[in-house]
Amino acid sequence: MKQKLGVKILKEKLIVANWKMNKNVQKTKEFAEIVGTEVLKSKNKIVICPPFTSLYVLKTYADIFGFEVGAQNCFWENSGAFTGEVSPSMLSDLGCKYVILGHSERRNYFDETNELINKKIAIAIENNLIPIVCVGESSSSRENGSAIDFVLSQLVDCFCGVIANQMKRIVIAYEPIWSIGTGKAMNPQQAQEMCSSIRKFILKKYDEKTASEVKILYGGSVTPENSKNFFEMQDIDGGLIGGASLDAEKFVDIISF
Ligand code: PGA
Repeated sequence: MKQKLGVKILKEKLIVANWKMNKNVQKTKEFAEIVGTEVLKSKNKIVICPPFTSLYVLKTYADIFGFEVGAQNCFWENSGAFTGEVSPSMLSDLGCKYVILGHSERRNYFDETNELINKKIAIAIENNLIPIVCVGESSSSRENGSAIDFVLSQLVDCFCGVIANQMKRIVIAYEPIWSIGTGKAMNPQQAQEMCSSIRKFILKKYDEKTASEVKILYGGSVTPENSKNFFEMQDIDGGLIGGASLDAEKFVDIISF
């Protein structure tokens, strides 16, 4: 396990941009031209997840500047009569390395359940994609003290059947729902408490090596002003950034702390 210090020495962080349904191809190129050179200087690992329509063009910049691209979702089959869906094998073929799964907006607007996310995780892994699995509690769950139990039960269901060797590569993004896009970032100590519980869960279900290798991110109203407070926490390996990742200057500030 990582050293039990209150604050860990800053090492390479994984910083993931989630653009949601924003930016067309032209805006994607403009962003990549500004941010690309800063990525080259950054000591952190950067992943940008644009809408599907910008993945191809962004990948050409990713190859020049050394960042990775990820999708924001994928289907649970590799091909077939599923009008409107995009498969994990197509993403992999495009050079995508990551895929966000189970974001709270997908759980909320598209009724995605842990069981469905579990299916997507399995096929993403099969296609060599690294799933960024989102979990997080509602405000009522936080208020009634059940947040940790709720998140751990999401993990139980999402990772059903996932073996240690697969788990090591997976990224878990802890995003309290009440904090996403609201400007109400969580207290970093509370985020640390949840991320530490998540790591302990992985330790119990798998082993020490898996628990220390799995990456746990915090997401929810991360800004250039507060990002470092999260990244300093012992069990927070980086961030999943929504709103602030749309603005090239803000994103550069976050990746180059
Ligand atoms: P936010 O979004 O940074 O705008 O709160 C985070 C996310 O939805 O991943």
